[in-house]
Amino acid sequence: MNRNPRVAVVGATGAVGIELIKTLGKRNFPVSKLALLASARSVGRKLKFRNQEIAVDELTKDSFKGIDIALFSAGGGISKEFAPLAAKAGLKRIFASSYQAVSGTGAKAIEELKRQVEELVSGKPATKEVYPHQIAFNVLPQVDSFLPDGYTKEEMKMQNEGRKIMHHPAFRASVTCVRVPVYRAHSVAVSAEFKQPVSVDAAREVLSKAPGLDVVDDPEKKEYPMPLYTAEKYNCQVGRIRKDCALDNGLCFWVSGDQLLKGAALNAVQIAEELLK
Ligand SMILES: NC(=O)c1ccc[n+]([C@@H]2O[C@H](COP(=O)([O-])OP(=O)(O)OC[C@H]3O[C@@H](n4cnc5c(N)ncnc54)[C@H](OP(=O)(O)O)[C@@H]3O)[C@@H](O)[C@H]2O)c1
Repeated sequence: MNRNPRVAVVGATGAVGIELIKTLGKRNFPVSKLALLASARSVGRKLKFRNQEIAVDELTKDSFKGIDIALFSAGGGISKEFAPLAAKAGLKRIFASSYQAVSGTGAKAIEELKRQVEELVSGKPATKEVYPHQIAFNVLPQVDSFLPDGYTKEEMKMQNEGRKIMHHPAFRASVTCVRVPVYRAHSVAVSAEFKQPVSVDAAREVLSKAPGLDVVDDPEKKEYPMPLYTAEKYNCQVGRIRKDCALDNGLCFWVSGDQLLKGAALNAVQIAEELLK
């Protein structure tokens, strides 16, 4: 692998792409050449990388000639560092509700929330393009499309990706995914059931050592993770850790994390950094 690779960012003009470009710069990734790729709509648009203005090119079959690393807006997910920890505790199943930011839908949804807020505060009706209902001052219990069993694709992704990430084919997740009028950072309230009893102290200790995660959990001081304050941070935050009063071996906790960074752009750059090692 070239130690100073030529890098392409695919989807450079999107919500994740913009974060990828910033993250490559902030982490001093040793880029010798950066190609920014998007659709024909964005050709000619210029984006800043370090002190350079780079023109966006159209993505074509030939775009990757001479490119060492291509960063596609990689799928989100929980950091794989958690896999061994979760597997060790023999986690059985979770019940969860997510509170997902509009940037998870992409750049157009960020614009939709901004536009609707402006329309509503100036007394006009909210116009809709991206979501089926008004998202400003509302919550939508639908993320992605519905499956025949009544769950959405996003909800089943939590079970299916959880199984892959934890190498745990029997893991079960019953989830309700909700879109909330937050610009950036997803949150999730989790009740997790384990095979054996798990104490709050042991959970706190394991979580405080986990890479990519900060424990923010001091209820007396009203300290807990919030999307407003985890936005633009590399680490996810976990708090409200407590015994679940409705499950025998259960723990409840609340997590917030910047899905554009840890869920996509930062993760992609960290994978590229691993390739250089
Ligand atoms: N947003 C998140 O939080 C998040 C988290 C994890 C994973 N992801 C994944 O990351 C990907 C991008 O998401 P996003 O939120 O950044 O979406 P977005 O804001 O809508 O951006 C989409 C990007 O893809 C480009 N594009 C679309 N069609 C193209 C084509 N035919 N050829 C070349 N480029 C094309 C767009 O270029 P133009 O501007 O030219 O149209 C734009 O740069 C998706 O697969 C999404 O599932 C997103």
